Order: sequence, then structure tokens, then C-alpha cells
Amino acid sequence: MDIQCTQKELALLQEVATAATSLQRETYLVGGFVRDKLLGRPTTDIDFVCVGDALELAGAVAARFRPTPSVDYFKSFGTAHFFLRPDSPDTPPYDLEFVGARKESYHPSSRKPSVEPGTIQDDQLRRDFTINALAISLNPTTYGQLIDPFGGIGDLDKGVIRTPLSPDTTFSDDPLRMMRAIRFATQLGFTIDSNTWKGIVDNAERIRIISQERITDELNKIVEARIPSVGFDLLYKSGLLKLIFPQLVALVGAEYKDGQGHKDNFYHTLQVLDNVAKSSTDRWLRWAALLHDIAKPATKRFEEGHGWTFHGHEVVGGRMVPKIFTALKLPLNDKMKFVRKLVELHLRPISLTKENITDSAVRRLLFDAGDNFESLMILCEADITSKNKQKVKRFLDNFLWVRQRCREVEEKDHIRNWQPPITGELIMEVFGLSPSKPVGIIKDAIKDAMLDGEIPNSYDAAYAFMLKKAAELGLVPVAGQ
Ligand code: CTP
Repeated sequence: MDIQCTQKELALLQEVATAATSLQRETYLVGGFVRDKLLGRPTTDIDFVCVGDALELAGAVAARFRPTPSVDYFKSFGTAHFFLRPDSPDTPPYDLEFVGARKESYHPSSRKPSVEPGTIQDDQLRRDFTINALAISLNPTTYGQLIDPFGGIGDLDKGVIRTPLSPDTTFSDDPLRMMRAIRFATQLGFTIDSNTWKGIVDNAERIRIISQERITDELNKIVEARIPSVGFDLLYKSGLLKLIFPQLVALVGAEYKDGQGHKDNFYHTLQVLDNVAKSSTDRWLRWAALLHDIAKPATKRFEEGHGWTFHGHEVVGGRMVPKIFTALKLPLNDKMKFVRKLVELHLRPISLTKENITDSAVRRLLFDAGDNFESLMILCEADITSKNKQKVKRFLDNFLWVRQRCREVEEKDHIRNWQPPITGELIMEVFGLSPSKPVGIIKDAIKDAMLDGEIPNSYDAAYAFMLKKAAELGLVPVAGQ
């Protein structure tokens, strides 16, 4: 296996080596950069380990560059890092991180390690997986030599995730590593060694001591992988998922009654997620896929003569989104609103595939989806997971037809970014109202009339309609209006 570095990276490593030599500090390249460069994966995070003071080395390396980057020192952790400006605005900066080689020992009740200085061997031993414990010497007599005490190269070749120490020790030292194992297996398409896997299953409960932020960071990396279902399936089978994301586990399984079953909504959801991942790298669209059926367990009923139903699961699911985002410490901003909207709307395009759909129904979908129309269609198309090829083709053709109808109506009526021409402020001014229920009633009535095609999309028509609707409510314009 060869390290595939660019000229710029080789020059950068040379600068670090020169600074380290002048400080007489034994220094190595370690961790993810070595792993990813051997695999030919893009990476810009470069970790260095030195025997001795890493803060001084970071300062000395930074001083070799113009303009000199400013170094962030984390004295209590004995680490320092700085960014090197990218070559162009399109390329990310290099993030150089320096840490002193150390031995760590952990206490069972906490994640906080007690740290002592150590050798490069000690440092490699405390790392999570053999493929992450590879080091490359930057020292004068051994420059470029690979140090692989645990067979990391063999594991990279075979595609195996394995702990260097006994899995119990590695995982109880830092239980987040159980999720990292699954995340790396997902990102790299690797398998988890059977002994390491047993360690995850045995230690799953210890994930409880890990902060939500770190857990969610790993979840996001799984969500963003090429085939995210791999990670969620492993999280489920290891017992971790029920501890960190019980709402997803509630989707597992199919119930039977009177010989009628429903599909396993967990594996259906994972397939939808993979389907979306084929069309889009958008993290939040992928979250929408993961959550689109999340309320199916809560809304499941067996109706005589009908079989299993999940009425209203899109509405209840929409309400669950902010709660799940809060629990997972995901942002409660417009990203959450986007996911909620998609969960709420995910059945709407399919309802448009029925015959005799009116322009008004199409206008409503365009209005409600707005700028998220394309994302919604990707989710809906991904939601077709039938094994019956003819059925899949029929559904996909239906969606093509929906897209066509939407295009036609949009060209005619320009609904997607439409704003009702009469604002709440104007209604209050005309009728001398303060913010109150009638204002909302009139505003909604104007919107509905326009979307239903009762009035044309113009200010004058909307104004006249407002006067009519207000009169029905017993309101008259104040003098001068
Ligand atoms: N590491 C570890 N245990 C952890 C986290 C990190 O042993 N819980 C070690 C590994 O050797 C890892 C290195 O620290 O390679 C750097 O960690 P980090 O930057 O978090 O991960 P990477 O391996 O670089 O991968 P990624 O950037 O994809 O997270």
C-alpha cells in the first residue's frame, strides 16, 4: 500500500520534520491522515504525535509558514492546532493538530482520562483501531518509515475494523469508540472483526456516559455515508440503537392479525434512506428520510375489513421532529423546519396520482412545498420500496406525471414562491383591528380563494375578496380606507 500525498502535502510534512529535528523532538504522522492516505480517500486533517512538548513544536512549525498562522493552544490537554490557508477558496484548509505521545488510563465512572507522557508505542496502544494506530516517522534516520505494531496494514487490506487491545479495554476506555467502529465500517465498507463486535454488544450500555453531542456527531457521519443503512442496521443489531435512538427501534418488526401483516417499517425506512442517499448528499433530506415514518408505531391500528392503517402518521410524525431534534441536540432552526415539513408532506404527492386531480390540489402542494418541492419529490420517489418491479415502475411513472402537472400549473400560476398579496398589517389597517383572530381568518380565506382558483392571482381581486369576507364577519373599513 502506498501513501498518496500531493506535492504540497509532502512539502508540508518536510516543514514539520525540519522543525521537529531542530527541537530534537521525535515526531510521527498518525491516525486518520495515514489511514485515509493509504486508502486514497481525501482528507485535510493531519495529526502529529511527538515525544515531549507538542505545544512548542506546533509554534515552531507554524513559524515556518508565511503568513504565519495563529495557533490555538489547549494547555490542559497538551494539544495545539492551526489551519493552513487553502490554495483556492474551493479547497478546505489543512488542519494540523499536534499532541504529545501519552499513556492514558481511564476511571470506570467517567470519560476523563488521567494522562501521563509516554512513548510512541504507548500512544499507538491507546488508539481505537488497528487502522487508526498506524504511524509514519518524520525523524531524520527513519523518515517515511511506517510503524504498524498491530497489523493495521493487513486490516486495511482486508477491510477489517479491529481494536489493538482487548475490545473490552478499548471500549470501556472510551465507549464512543463503539459508534466509531460502526461509523468506520459504514464509511469505508469494512467489516467489524468478530471479537471486536462481541465487545460492542457486551459494552453497549456504557454508551450512556457519552455526551449527546459526540453521539450525534457519529450519527450524522453515518447519515452522510454512501450507504447509511449499513450503520443503522449495525447500531440496531449491536443494541446501541435502542439506547441512543429508541424511536427508530420502535419501527422494527411486522405485526400480524387475521393473517394480515404490515411491512417492517425499520427496514423500509433504511431502504428509503439509502434510496435518498443515491440521489442527494443533503444531510437534512437524509434525516427526513430517516424520520418520514417515525410515527407509524404511534398511529398503528388494525381496522376490520381494511387491515393495518397508520392514519395521520405524517402529522404526528411532524410533531415528533422537534422533540427528536431536541433529544439528539440537532439544531432547532430552519433545518429542523425543513425536516418537519417533508415528514408532514410526504404523502401529498402520492395523493395527486389519483385521477381527476384538480389544479387547486396541485396549487396547494406547490404552495405548501415551496422551495422544497424537489426535495419532497426525491423523498417520495425514494419511498417506493416494493419488490414488485411493475409496481415500482407504475408508481415512478405516476410521479413523473405529478411533476409534469406541477410544472404546468407552476408555469401558469407561479405558486412556488407566491406570497399572498394582502398582508395581515393591511387587513388591520383597513378595518382598524389589532392582532386578533379575524385577521387570520381573512388572510387564510384570501389564500384559499386564490389557491382554489376562486379569484385570480392579483392585488385588486384579493382586495375585493377581503372586503367581502370581512363583511361576512360584520367588519367594515374604518373611515378613510
Ligand atoms: N482516536 C481514538 N479514540 C477516539 C477518537 C480518536 O483512539 N475516541 C484516535 C484515532 O487514532 C484517530 C485519531 O485519534 O485516528 C484522530 O481522531 P479523529 O480526528 O476523531 O478521527 P479520525 O480517525 O481522524 O477520523 P475522522 O476524522 O473521520 O473522525
